[in-house]
Amino acid sequence: MLEIKNLHVKLEDEGKQILKGVDLVVPAGEVHAIMGPNGSGKSTLSYVLSGRDGYEVTEGDATLDGESLLDMEPEARAAAGLFLAFQYPVEIPGVGNLTFLRTALNAQRKARGEEELSSAEFLKIVREKAKTLKIDGEMLKRPVNVGFSGGEKKRNEVLQMAMLEPRMCILDETDSGLDVDAMRLVADGVNALRSPERSFLVITHYQRLLDHIKPDVVHIMSAGRIIKTGGPELALEVEQNGYGDLLAEAN
Ligand SMILES: Nc1ncnc2c1ncn2[C@@H]1O[C@H](COP(=O)(O)OP(=O)(O)OP(=O)(O)O)[C@@H](O)[C@H]1O
Ligand SMILES: [Mg+2]
Repeated sequence: MLEIKNLHVKLEDEGKQILKGVDLVVPAGEVHAIMGPNGSGKSTLSYVLSGRDGYEVTEGDATLDGESLLDMEPEARAAAGLFLAFQYPVEIPGVGNLTFLRTALNAQRKARGEEELSSAEFLKIVREKAKTLKIDGEMLKRPVNVGFSGGEKKRNEVLQMAMLEPRMCILDETDSGLDVDAMRLVADGVNALRSPERSFLVITHYQRLLDHIKPDVVHIMSAGRIIKTGGPELALEVEQNGYGDLLAEAN
């Protein structure tokens, strides 16, 4: 599914090197977690994969089912099935949440040569999925994320994911800022999407989330590289001992 090879990335403006040779393979059907100290490059990796401006890939590649993502426009990456739930979800004043979801979904369907959904079909599906995430009708009508609480924004990201049914889902700290019940809703939303054809890359600081979304593999990122890969026990080790030993081991 997702294959990242020796990925080096610098900031376009400052020339500052942020990713320094990331290697990562997420096979179809698996859930991988990335943990790592603040500033290690986790969000940068997710931005570069989704095609955000401002970064320059100086070496290496990232492919989705063998096709390089780096040559594709962000829309094409989304149509190919890549999805990113942002660490800091963006507010889009003036664009209603429902309109946004429907436009995004139909644009992707069109790009894949599928029929657009009728208004009635769309509403039925979105109401159902919103209900399971405890997102009410009023929130669906408001402009995207505007005035949403931190936790509401995160749930709204998961609603987008549930509607778009992407094949490769990247969640950047979707658990941060969620109350205990909301975290369970979000985890249930993710677990409901798990399938042999779909993969997840879950960026998190806390083992707690991984109690609910059981990862197959855990990666530790530090200073722009994956320094260790292991099973779920790696997340427990971080929770108990912090990163000190892992960083020392890697150096
Ligand atoms: N536009 C920018 N200008 C300057 N420095 C940047 C910029 N974008 C990222 N960086 C730096 O790159 C490094 C990696 O940032 P990134 O957001 O990817 O870290 P992270 O692993 O997601 O951290 P966190 O756990 O705090 O979310 C940081 O040191 C950050 O300050
Ligand atoms: Mg981050």
